[in-house]
Amino acid sequence: MQAKQKWWQKTVVYQVYPKSFKDTTGSGQGDIPGITRRLDYLKTLGVGAVWLTPVYPSPMVDNGYDIADYTAIDPSYGTMADMEELIAEGKRCGIRIVMDLVFNHSSDQHPWFLESKSSRDNAKADWYIWRDAKPDGSAPTNWRGIFGGSAWTWCEERQQYYLHTFAKEQPDLNWENPAVRQALYDAANFWLDKGVGGFRIDAIVYIKKPAFVDGEPDGEDGMVGIHEMTHDTPGILDFLHEFKANVFDGHDIFTVGEANGVAASELKDWVGENGVFSMLFEFSHMNLNFPTSERWYEAEDWPLSKLKGALTASQRATATNGWYPIFFENHDQPRCVNKFFPADADPLLAAKAMATVLFTLRGTPFIYEGQELGYTNVAWESIDDYDDISSHGQYALALEEGCTHEQAMAGIHRFSRDNARTPMQWSDSRNAGFTTGTPWLPVHDDYRSCCVEHEACDENSVLSYYRRLSRLRRESAVSDILLAGDYGEILPQHEAIYGFVRNLGNRKLYVLVNFTTHNAPYDAAIVAGASRLEGNYSDSTPGTLRPLEAVIYTRED
Ligand code: GLC
Repeated sequence: MQAKQKWWQKTVVYQVYPKSFKDTTGSGQGDIPGITRRLDYLKTLGVGAVWLTPVYPSPMVDNGYDIADYTAIDPSYGTMADMEELIAEGKRCGIRIVMDLVFNHSSDQHPWFLESKSSRDNAKADWYIWRDAKPDGSAPTNWRGIFGGSAWTWCEERQQYYLHTFAKEQPDLNWENPAVRQALYDAANFWLDKGVGGFRIDAIVYIKKPAFVDGEPDGEDGMVGIHEMTHDTPGILDFLHEFKANVFDGHDIFTVGEANGVAASELKDWVGENGVFSMLFEFSHMNLNFPTSERWYEAEDWPLSKLKGALTASQRATATNGWYPIFFENHDQPRCVNKFFPADADPLLAAKAMATVLFTLRGTPFIYEGQELGYTNVAWESIDDYDDISSHGQYALALEEGCTHEQAMAGIHRFSRDNARTPMQWSDSRNAGFTTGTPWLPVHDDYRSCCVEHEACDENSVLSYYRRLSRLRRESAVSDILLAGDYGEILPQHEAIYGFVRNLGNRKLYVLVNFTTHNAPYDAAIVAGASRLEGNYSDSTPGTLRPLEAVIYTRED
């Protein structure tokens, strides 16, 4: 048996995208009081922590990931008093609030940047990453930013370029400067003093920069994706250990770093005994469509073996050291029903199949708002219908590289981050009960059937299934197996079924999920003598899974 588990290992985390959650003012965008009013709803899902994407003052070029003040609240979301009330109300009902720390970059409207760009010799002159042009006047390196175009932007005042991993309005902070690091630690500590329950740390793999040299171009534009050049640069862990010592240590909180590009084999340095964070969002199971390129129009289909391999590798890597944050959606990803299943999949069965994996792997499940209602992607006609900055970057890149409008839009439909950002569907009334005004992003047109009001009173709904699985994990005769049991893959060669077993002492829990839309036979002996606990059909027959069938069996040996 392992050591006593922490509260955040036993709970369920829910990610709220505040702009799309619940509007209480009629502005058309969600706000903090809207979240406070819906804590009771989150409680019905067994949620013990809510991760809020950024609610700080921001010009909203990247929906709040461009922060202009790390220790205040954007007026469109409410006031600091609203935030304090959310934290206090959350505490009252057992839900801790988790803030998003965006410390790789700030907004170009942050006072630090305004000062930094004003001259080469001001007090914050080296708080960002400034470099001279190449002799021919071009950018210091040929790096392409994650949202498209050069990662360098020219600044007239300083007659220099500054670096931005993302949009030009998101200049990268210079972590080499101790004063910058201290200012960031102070900001995080400000929120700890307010009583938050933890942090999700944004884009953390980019904070350490390597030498500023050109890379081998990966496209017609002569540029190379900045991610390839700068993620996980040696020395990054020194910064992170200092961060931990100055902020996280000694607090009963959890931290989860966003670490695209960190492999399962490297997790030991990032989480657990000798690591930095409680958990790490690595994306090995999410990036299957993009083994070589970050271009949406070039997305590849993948065999189930890839998903199985990635999940098993992460489970193994966190088996004895660290802890795994289980997630299949977030605000940057398309809906899991579309992402992981064939186009002809029944969305209801698919949503429940993914939920079955979400609640039964070893780790802490993260539900992304709407996932528990079985949301599917949207498909708007024109690129102008999309708000997401990365959709615009991807569309331009696709056209530049010879795609037709239709080909470019196919990529947008499949991967746009707006798929995850449409408003929360509370009821079948106007605007799905999200706002009395005009929603900032259109409500999905399925809201009359897919909404909290209806799903809450339908025991076959996706929402009811989420509630049952959450209970199974938290307060049932098998909770201890789900929380602490170890993980072993079964049927590893099976092309249609992802199967695993959770073991605790002589008790076992088998999870079998058919990811295809045809029947999938398997050796019934695997579950001989076991009893069925839950599943997305009303019954199951050992030896065959029907299309998209997911089932959980338990047995004592
Ligand atoms: C992270 C966020 C994403 C944001 C980016 C820049 O990947 O999840 O939404 O655009 O960082 O901050």
